[in-house]
Amino acid sequence: DSDVVRRERFSGGPARSFLSSLDADVRIFQADLAVDRAHVVMLAEQDIVTDTEAATILQALDVVEVEEHAGLPEGEDIHAAIETSVIDQVGPVGGKMHTARSRNDEVATCIRYRLREDLADAIEATLACREALLEVATEHTETVMPGYTHLQPAQPTTVAHWACSYQQALARDTARLFDAYARVDQSPLGAAAFAGTTFDIDRERVAELLGFDGVLDNATDASATRDFLVETAAALATLATTLSGLAEDVLVFANKGLVDLADDYSSTSSIMPQKVNPDTLELVRGTAGDASAGLNGLLTTLKGLPRAYNRDLQRATPHIWASVDAVTEATAVAAGAVATADWPEAELEAAAGEGFSTATGVADLLAASGIPFRTAHEVLALAAEAAEEGGTPSFDLVAAAAEEVLDEPLSTYVSEAAVKTALDPVSNVAARDSLGGPAPETVAEHLDTVSEGLADD
Ligand code: ARG
Repeated sequence: DSDVVRRERFSGGPARSFLSSLDADVRIFQADLAVDRAHVVMLAEQDIVTDTEAATILQALDVVEVEEHAGLPEGEDIHAAIETSVIDQVGPVGGKMHTARSRNDEVATCIRYRLREDLADAIEATLACREALLEVATEHTETVMPGYTHLQPAQPTTVAHWACSYQQALARDTARLFDAYARVDQSPLGAAAFAGTTFDIDRERVAELLGFDGVLDNATDASATRDFLVETAAALATLATTLSGLAEDVLVFANKGLVDLADDYSSTSSIMPQKVNPDTLELVRGTAGDASAGLNGLLTTLKGLPRAYNRDLQRATPHIWASVDAVTEATAVAAGAVATADWPEAELEAAAGEGFSTATGVADLLAASGIPFRTAHEVLALAAEAAEEGGTPSFDLVAAAAEEVLDEPLSTYVSEAAVKTALDPVSNVAARDSLGGPAPETVAEHLDTVSEGLADD
């Protein structure tokens, strides 16, 4: 009996635990049971095993399920261990379960079956995070705040416009995960080792029983490919990168007193009694490392593998579980931190004009009155220099700078009132109503559209 030989072969040797994936395979325990059951049902439907034989095997599988992963006998992996348990329970007839398949197509099917579930959770988490961001945005279309480039004050914007920027990025992250899902959702079962089988199997039927959307055609590709892991890990790494930026922004805002994190998302210091630290978001930021490790681990493991099955593949699988767990958890935590944070409007408005961030808006006003933009830029650069030397940004400051640059006095181009309006962060933002701009009305329209998009996802 070749099974006995295999089991005996596995039972000894110094490399035994190195060879075995049984512990890690706990992740696909339920998946393997589902795959075994579907396969056995199909074998019976195709008269490859009798109904009685199928029933015997299915009963043994029920016992395996009750005894759980921890109750399995030793084995090189979960597939071998479950088969051993079935044979131990019902005798050699249990060995019919492995007719017309191999562990190669079996494990690939189990990974896909389980990963669908994990991908669905990851997608859910992105939806929750987008919902949290849209709620913040809806509440704060008029809350002005400083906008930064190079971490320097750049132009005033609103909390809503900032939140929507991440919602948009996360919407693409959701789409990438859906895209990966569609290609994960294909059944390799029945490919056997890599070269098909002599038995009259029905691969479509097994796919249907396991809820797969379709069957992977070429048997060698079906059992060997792990590209679906790579693209899932890439989508997760992209998502983690989005989240790391979001986390970093909130960390910077919190540092400036522009956002207050809820206590649930803060942490204390073991030595410094006064400290309340934004640790959760630092961990979200750090998760980009986990995600990148997963993607790189997969790419490096898979690079240059020849057709068809190679045992390296066993070490590829844990990378995806680590990535999806870390990134999904980080996404959920980011959603919670965003949903519970407080945006102090007075502080935000007071800071919105810092560093003469209204200067571009004033330059735009001058340019709209006929002064070439480059000349207007020069005027405001001079005014900004003066502001840095102690003056606050004001009409007088701009007029004085204009005198040095323009032939005509500033008043021939624009009124004092118009300049003062442009210098006010609230009006400055309201004037930027181009498509995708931060003006409250523009963002309100954007919110209507993207809320529908979120509901569709
Ligand atoms: N445990 C293996 C894996 O995770 C599947 C078993 C295939 N083993 C083999 N010797 N062909 O990839």
